[in-house]
Amino acid sequence: MKDFENVVLKISGLHKSFGSKHILVDFNLELLRGENIVVIGKSGSGKSVLIKCVVGLLKPDKGTIRVFGTDMQSLNQDEMDRLRVRIGFLFQNSALYDSMTVRENLLFPMRRHWMDISRDEEEQLVDEALENVGLSHTKEMMPAELSGGMRKRVAIARTLIMKPELVLYDEPTTGLDPITGREIVQLMLDLQKKYHISSIMISHDMTVAKLTANKIIVLYDGTNYATGTYEELKNSTDKNVQQFFEFAT
Ligand SMILES: Nc1ncnc2c1ncn2[C@@H]1O[C@H](COP(=O)(O)OP(=O)(O)O)[C@@H](O)[C@H]1O
Ligand SMILES: [Mg+2]
Repeated sequence: MKDFENVVLKISGLHKSFGSKHILVDFNLELLRGENIVVIGKSGSGKSVLIKCVVGLLKPDKGTIRVFGTDMQSLNQDEMDRLRVRIGFLFQNSALYDSMTVRENLLFPMRRHWMDISRDEEEQLVDEALENVGLSHTKEMMPAELSGGMRKRVAIARTLIMKPELVLYDEPTTGLDPITGREIVQLMLDLQKKYHISSIMISHDMTVAKLTANKIIVLYDGTNYATGTYEELKNSTDKNVQQFFEFAT
């Protein structure tokens, strides 16, 4: 018997098309508490579309998305806003606001959401978030003064500042050199543990998947084509799965 209380996210029969382009065709996923699922797929296969459906930025054509046991479609705007506070996102190429200091960039998500906390508490959250990513000294700096890796760390701090229970990372290491990418991945793993975060990570990097995934889902032909651990999928004889391991160790 599965413990349904432990299902953080359940996507069932998700369909999404743009005109005659069928991007997601019966996609299914179940994320348990504390798990990290990595979704891999080729460029243009619909990975970001999937994330945007979960966040509510795109409306599914068909299927259900249940977050913390609630069907997203049943929510009104107010309820949706409250639910979103419990979900963190790191969008692909998620940029910081160039004209704001690091501190202001971190305050931004709190000001946008309805939050019943004082200014002092906000500042404390900013300090804690920066400490978590080892960047306390950058608080009053501008994004342009930071390296790519540091900017990504600030973006992670911003994603996690509201202590979300579910985090969606869209290609978190894209645009970073491999060593910095590893550091970012390690940082995410450390923070996942510290805050008991469950997550979905989009990637096309098998090394990232190997390091972080409890379970990997291959998105192919718009569906959850194959699911397994890194080792299981690596040993698959299916050519559509094998292609992702061509350069992997
Ligand atoms: N808002 C949109 N309108 C029309 N087509 C879109 C939209 N968003 C994504 N697409 C198309 O859906 C496909 C999948 O996109 P995406 O999910 O961004 O791919 P990826 O797997 O690289 O993240 C692409 O062909 C893209 O052009
Ligand atoms: Mg994408």
